[in-house]
Amino acid sequence: MAAGAFAEAGADLELVGIHKRFPGFTAIEDLDLRIPAGSFFALLGPSGCGKTTTLRLVAGLEQPTSGRILIGGKDVTEVKSFKRPVNTVFQSYALFPHMTVLENVAFGLRRRGISDAVGKAHEALRLVELDHLSARRPQQLSGGQQQRVALARAIVNRPALLLLDEPLGALDLKLRRQMQLELKSIQTDVGLTFLHVTHDQEEAMTMADTVAVMNKGQIEQMGAPEELYELPRTAFVANFLGQSNLFTGPVTSSKGESIVVDIAGVKIEVPKERAQRHTGEVTIGVRPEKLMLHTSAPKAAPGTNVLGPGRVTDVSFSGVSTQYQIAVPGLGLITVFAQNMVFGPVVNLGAEAWVSWTVDHGFGLADEPEHAPKFASDTDTATIALQTRHELLAEIEEA
Ligand SMILES: Nc1ncnc2c1ncn2[C@@H]1O[C@H](COP(=O)(O)OP(=O)(O)O)[C@@H](O)[C@H]1O
Ligand SMILES: [Mg+2]
Repeated sequence: MAAGAFAEAGADLELVGIHKRFPGFTAIEDLDLRIPAGSFFALLGPSGCGKTTTLRLVAGLEQPTSGRILIGGKDVTEVKSFKRPVNTVFQSYALFPHMTVLENVAFGLRRRGISDAVGKAHEALRLVELDHLSARRPQQLSGGQQQRVALARAIVNRPALLLLDEPLGALDLKLRRQMQLELKSIQTDVGLTFLHVTHDQEEAMTMADTVAVMNKGQIEQMGAPEELYELPRTAFVANFLGQSNLFTGPVTSSKGESIVVDIAGVKIEVPKERAQRHTGEVTIGVRPEKLMLHTSAPKAAPGTNVLGPGRVTDVSFSGVSTQYQIAVPGLGLITVFAQNMVFGPVVNLGAEAWVSWTVDHGFGLADEPEHAPKFASDTDTATIALQTRHELLAEIEEA
């Protein structure tokens, strides 16, 4: 795809000390954010955490209660919405049904009396690979194609900053995944700054250079996707971005580069540089795919943590991997994801099992332990599916 006239630089976006209070409700609290020009930035968080409000503040559709907004180094806090170098693509594309694709894309340019509106509209449509359908009407297009028209309509204005508010929300899963890759490649081509808002962690990780995880109007952690995934700092991040096994106990000693934590009587090591706190009661964690499952007690080895024995209480096969739940006395349930290397489950339901992991894979959270729930059950679809299954099984047993 040729970037052509769209190869203009995006602009930095800076939010400084933003608060947004609605009557009786604080939607955004002390938000500081700096998005470098030309980056693809994702704001990730559950429904109601303040994502749309943040975008509306940037677009100038809401005024912050306090704080400042800078675009390209220029303070736009008092600048009217239509004068900001910003365009928004919403979840509902809101294309004009009576206009052709081309007219939809050219509309804004024409209204502002910009020269060569049609030529520019064709160029934007070429960018989203839809120029050959420019004479069609929106209802003659698929959902994914309509979404691309909406994107062309926003890009044609050459905004320094493009805001995307869950723009793929209306698409089915397969098309969504395809559009994620396309959006990312369009962003790379045009070089504009994209601020993408989503509640879908996979979407945020697939597309963005930088992800900011938002919870209750505040940013809990921000960084490159791999960095957030490998080293979450709070229980919320550990469970919103993928799943984590979390355990709480007192730090009992220090051993070389590690702290030693007493987890229900077992000594567990966590690298100091991966632990946010080194004394007192701490919550530590490890990702389910980092765990090895054993059917006999593994030999103690330096650099390895072992928990068990426990009992396998659930085995769910999901194609590429199998998810095991291991109930360990005093610890609750441990989740293990095992890649499917052989046919059938490796470990059977009801079997005795141990888990082990390399010390380097553990992490220690900054949260006070009482704020560390084992699973954020309302957000994780895999957990919800498992809960539903347990409920169904219980019902069948009762009947
Ligand atoms: N105009 C408003 N008046 C009062 N509360 C609002 C208003 N707009 C949003 N909110 C509240 O602010 C919170 C954040 O909303 P929103 O930014 O839309 O969340 P998200 O986009 O992350 O789902 C929600 O609890 C919502 O009910
Ligand atoms: Mg929203």
